[in-house]
Amino acid sequence: MTDPENGNGPARQSGPVVVRRGIPEGVEVRVAELYWDAFGRKLGPALDPPDSAREFIARHLHHDRGVTALLDGEVVGVAGYRLGERALTGGGARDVLATYGAVRGLPRLALLALFSRTPAAHELVMDGIAVNPAHRGHGIGSLLLKEIVALAADHGCRRVRLDVIDINPRARALYERHGFSAARTERTPYLRGLMGFSAVTTMYRPVTAAAENGEPR
Ligand SMILES: CC(C)(COP(=O)(O)OP(=O)(O)OC[C@H]1O[C@@H](n2cnc3c(N)ncnc32)[C@H](O)[C@@H]1OP(=O)(O)O)[C@@H](O)C(=O)NCCC(=O)NCCS
Repeated sequence: MTDPENGNGPARQSGPVVVRRGIPEGVEVRVAELYWDAFGRKLGPALDPPDSAREFIARHLHHDRGVTALLDGEVVGVAGYRLGERALTGGGARDVLATYGAVRGLPRLALLALFSRTPAAHELVMDGIAVNPAHRGHGIGSLLLKEIVALAADHGCRRVRLDVIDINPRARALYERHGFSAARTERTPYLRGLMGFSAVTTMYRPVTAAAENGEPR
């Protein structure tokens, strides 16, 4: 059984893959690599070059704001979430400026602010999910999503929110299969050249007592 307070312990298992709450100590760089591989296009303009970006993400991870999928002890997937002010990826303005310097840091801060999403009351925001490309399509993303929903229920949240970009219809289809519905779409044509997408859709999934086991409704 998982302890929702400290987030330790195996939570969900399918075959040899174990999904657990929290990011284990020592795998920060691997988690940062997975995040960077999945979201480098989106985060690149803010955190490039890649080496600095991965190092920045690894150094500022909040271990209690992630769910990890492990195969033989190796991290093959991760989902990050925001509860209150705290998210998986940390690092405030001071850290960005210390890493990149004032001249390069300030425009980065402006870009990162675009992605900052503060949850409403009784809401958990899932702000990133990534599975190692070699292990995609085997249900690991689904296990991570179920654990995120179960975690939201354990924290008394009434819904989970996420954003999906217009160039990722397969991820959107996955979310719909897990009970998420699109609520609104924000057009972002000004980001197309820089980040490759031109619209962001916000999706919600209600969390009920029945969802405590992570079952899709
Ligand atoms: C989205 C993602 C986490 C799904 O993980 P997964 O372990 O492959 O998920 P599952 O095996 O449980 O489900 C597979 C479904 O995921 C979706 N999917 C999205 N992108 C996919 C990809 N590149 N490869 C395989 N499946 C993908 C599809 O809907 C797929 O179903 P399909 O085979 O009918 O198309 C994973 O593909 C990934 O890391 N993608 C890159 C990062 C990303 O896009 N994150 C979401 C940002 S909103």
